[in-house]
Amino acid sequence: MISIVFATNNQHKLRELREIAGNALIIKSLKDVGLDTDIPETQETIEGNARQKARFVYEKTGLDCFADDTGLEIAALYGRPGVYSARYAGEGCNFDDNIKKVMEEMQGVEDRRACFRCSICMIYRQNEYMFEGRIDGEITQGPSGSDGFGYDPVFRPDKQSQTFAEMPPYLKNGLSHRGRAVQKMLQYLARL
Ligand code: IMP
Repeated sequence: MISIVFATNNQHKLRELREIAGNALIIKSLKDVGLDTDIPETQETIEGNARQKARFVYEKTGLDCFADDTGLEIAALYGRPGVYSARYAGEGCNFDDNIKKVMEEMQGVEDRRACFRCSICMIYRQNEYMFEGRIDGEITQGPSGSDGFGYDPVFRPDKQSQTFAEMPPYLKNGLSHRGRAVQKMLQYLARL
């Protein structure tokens, strides 16, 4: 069984990853490997941030690991918040602040198309790999649902009647940007 460290301090992501990977992988948290630190995330792209986070954890621990970085890209906002999704409403903001800002900016906007993009960087047996996942959808008129995290209450995937926050976790994970990127990573590891 492959054991790998997930380079994140986000407990929502950790739970999702464990649900997606099921029995295919043993996913260790940073706490499990004794790393209690903020991970730098200062690049201009989600790919760059995923790489930076995975390399940071690899340099600190020498263990096989992976990191993900995600951005919500809204067409009418020219791709914002994108790589700035976590701190869109400013330093120290929370999920509600970010949603509020998006709702304000999208007020009265007809074109509500958006997508989530996720990049995963995996460092395995000293080699580095990138995997991508994307889901298209739209920004709703208001938040709905209490599952998930981040922008989930205001993102409805194409062909779905529920936002990510209204879906049971298995449904979100089966469709989501992160779920798709992780499936690619799992398929790659299964072939090794
Ligand atoms: P990160 O930099 O990958 O941690 O993600 C940036 C921000 O995007 C997070 O703080 C969340 O607000 C948002 N985000 C990441 N993944 C998801 C998701 O699956 N659903 C909704 N929002 C997400």
